[in-house]
Amino acid sequence: MPVHIVADTASKLSDLRAMLERHHAVTSELLSGASLRCSESDAVVVTADLQVVENIATLKEMFGKLTHIHKRIFIIDQKTRLFTVQAYALGATHVLVNPVGRSRLLAELADRRHPETNLNEALPGAREAAAAGAAATASMFSAVLAGNPIDVGSAKGAASRIADSIAEDGLCGWLETVRRHHEGTYQHCLLVTGIAVDFGLSLGLAKADIERLYSAAMFHDIGKAKIPPAVLDKPGRLDARERALIETHPAAGYDVLKGNAAICPEILDAVRHHHEYLDGSGYPDALCATSISDIVRILTISDIFSALIERRSYKPTMPRERAYEIIRNMKGKLERPLVDAFRDVALNR
Ligand SMILES: [Fe+2]
Ligand SMILES: [Fe+2]
Repeated sequence: MPVHIVADTASKLSDLRAMLERHHAVTSELLSGASLRCSESDAVVVTADLQVVENIATLKEMFGKLTHIHKRIFIIDQKTRLFTVQAYALGATHVLVNPVGRSRLLAELADRRHPETNLNEALPGAREAAAAGAAATASMFSAVLAGNPIDVGSAKGAASRIADSIAEDGLCGWLETVRRHHEGTYQHCLLVTGIAVDFGLSLGLAKADIERLYSAAMFHDIGKAKIPPAVLDKPGRLDARERALIETHPAAGYDVLKGNAAICPEILDAVRHHHEYLDGSGYPDALCATSISDIVRILTISDIFSALIERRSYKPTMPRERAYEIIRNMKGKLERPLVDAFRDVALNR
């Protein structure tokens, strides 16, 4: 089988060549100068350090040109949730963790089943918008972890594509697509963005307000990049220390974004205050009703609903009716007329 290898260092490239060239017709090139003359390949094997933002940017561009290759194997250096999801978000169909043995890699290449989660086959609109959104979120998280500047333009562009997808195909297809193909914080951010857009459309908000809303939704949980995955993705109840750690994420997100000229004050406010409640019981600033803006009130309802209906491996997915009932019962915390208006989004749209 023709297999194309791309690696970020010469030594990784030669190791992979040595593993595969007795068994497959191998071509290879370094990531930094990849020209991707591999249109005849049946599979591409990529290995690169995902802590390097430049690698992510190059891979993002590269995978966009490789969608016709059904098998896209990504080898990552560390088994972290972030790197794994990043690889899938970039377009990988299989993810392996170093050290990868020859037999494992050959077995993966020999497996001819088409991947169930190929993002580029059916339902192109929602799937491509979701893939772009996940990739942009992955890039933001990676930048925060590495202490690098965030690509605000890419994130806003991805959120705009999500808004287009919602406007064209509606919310139900979006929820289905995102919950099937994405996981954890990526799934959450994509769901919140889609739901916030649909909520904004149902309220008849002006275009500029919708744009602020979907940007705020894309950025709202960026502070979670600072929370250890073991706490962030812990199944079941959090203890007091873990809960306190989780509650640092709105202020952490605010700190990450506050010096960025491309982030307007309304978005910054929404990132910091999306866990505030009208009765003053929220965090981090225990704001009361008059201090909480409309965009924050809309985002908070979208955020809570998204968290309730997410697909998690350790629990059944909550029906939308049950999730809306929980929101209705949060008396005094959320704006009642907005909760009433959200009914149509939650149950019907
Ligand atoms: Fe949050
Ligand atoms: Fe959230």
